[in-house]
Amino acid sequence: MVDEKIVAIGDDLKKHHSFDELIDAHRLLVFPGGIDPHTHMDLPVMGTHSSDDFETGTISALHGGTTSIIDFANQEKGGTLNDALDIWKAKASGKAISDYGFHLTITDLNERTKKEIPAIFKSGITSFKTFTAYRGSLMIDDKMMGEIMREIKALGGLVTVHAEDADTIEDKIREYKNAGLLTPKYHALSHPISAEVKAASRVMDLAYQNESGLYIVHTSAGDTLKAIQKNFDRRQRVFVETCTQYLLLDDSVYDQPGFESAKYVMSPPIRSIDDCKDLWYALRAGLVHSVATDHCPFHYKGQKDAGDGDFTKIPNGAPGVENRMELIYSEGVDKGRITLEKFVEVTSTYAARIFGMKNKGALDIGKDADIVLFDPSALHTISSSSSKQNVDYNLYEGQTVTGKVITVLRRGKVVVRNGKADQMEKGTGQFIKRDKFNFSL
Ligand code: URP
Ligand code: ZN
Ligand code: ZN
Repeated sequence: MVDEKIVAIGDDLKKHHSFDELIDAHRLLVFPGGIDPHTHMDLPVMGTHSSDDFETGTISALHGGTTSIIDFANQEKGGTLNDALDIWKAKASGKAISDYGFHLTITDLNERTKKEIPAIFKSGITSFKTFTAYRGSLMIDDKMMGEIMREIKALGGLVTVHAEDADTIEDKIREYKNAGLLTPKYHALSHPISAEVKAASRVMDLAYQNESGLYIVHTSAGDTLKAIQKNFDRRQRVFVETCTQYLLLDDSVYDQPGFESAKYVMSPPIRSIDDCKDLWYALRAGLVHSVATDHCPFHYKGQKDAGDGDFTKIPNGAPGVENRMELIYSEGVDKGRITLEKFVEVTSTYAARIFGMKNKGALDIGKDADIVLFDPSALHTISSSSSKQNVDYNLYEGQTVTGKVITVLRRGKVVVRNGKADQMEKGTGQFIKRDKFNFSL
């Protein structure tokens, strides 16, 4: 590699090239650096912040073979889009070590904010997030959703959506609260699959009516996949993301004693074993295009416990950016659920294509030299005590994993060597200026 780029690929490159350093990849797999298209570093939630900032979060990502993340800059209702971007750029620049981009969450489209979009788009922010839930802060109505789709489509951008029906959730919360049912399990029960199906279906209809592309984030359930599949009949293009936790964990996590299951309070919640099976099947079949993490950690002690006695006060979200690549390799490739090629597609290549990251997601000449050397047979056990994530628990505590990230290069620079940080310099992560999204996977 030269100037951070891959310049040659071949068997015996020593004949024609000189090298500053040769790295022995004997018996290792070599694949493109992971891209996690859904993280929340330093996110303000319920009077606290997600516990990883762009420094600790990207250190964790790199240790796990993820060399790029796309985080979310959220517009405050009443504020401008540029205000949101300024805030998130300040959080990331000078701190991030992996490369990073932003999806921009629009919560208030008006004459003023509409005018901001073209310049923001040109600056490399080409995907826009919308919410059908979190009334009062992030949620927008269908009219605004349609308007956003039209604005973004005209520029060649992509609308993404957190699809859960707010009315369903609010009704359920009221019911459980009135009955005095306040443990973390009732968070999960108040976010039923029907709420996800209802919102996803509605937003897909809106995208269809507006001839807009759509990317559905953190899809958690088989019934949602069935609703998405129906769009094949009308030849609609919907990109689908799931997350590691929806593939690997099942809803028995909510039966843990006491307040323990608050660790799994996220939206949508963890579903049934059958949903996990449906998601693996859909990944294999190409209906799901990317596996993200929705990394949004909160300490169990000191943050999650704000909701001990009232599940509605538990900050929503969980950690995972460090473990995604190894877990999907172990549970996916090693267990024969997906091929190695599919693994690379859903952890890196497709996110690069969908989100217009033209220099990322593949080991090709001219691409950024984001490279992972991976030992496919090394066994290790996940534990929060050895994790780089700044959080006091791990969703996969005690799980044995087959396959380990050994060495990671970010734009040609070794940042992890033999499993250990190697000159990870704070602030060396670069903002990824993204292009229009690419329909053709
Ligand atoms: O519970 C979650 N997923 N928290 C992070 C924010 C979001 O909704 O994606
Ligand atoms: Zn979400
Ligand atoms: Zn999220």
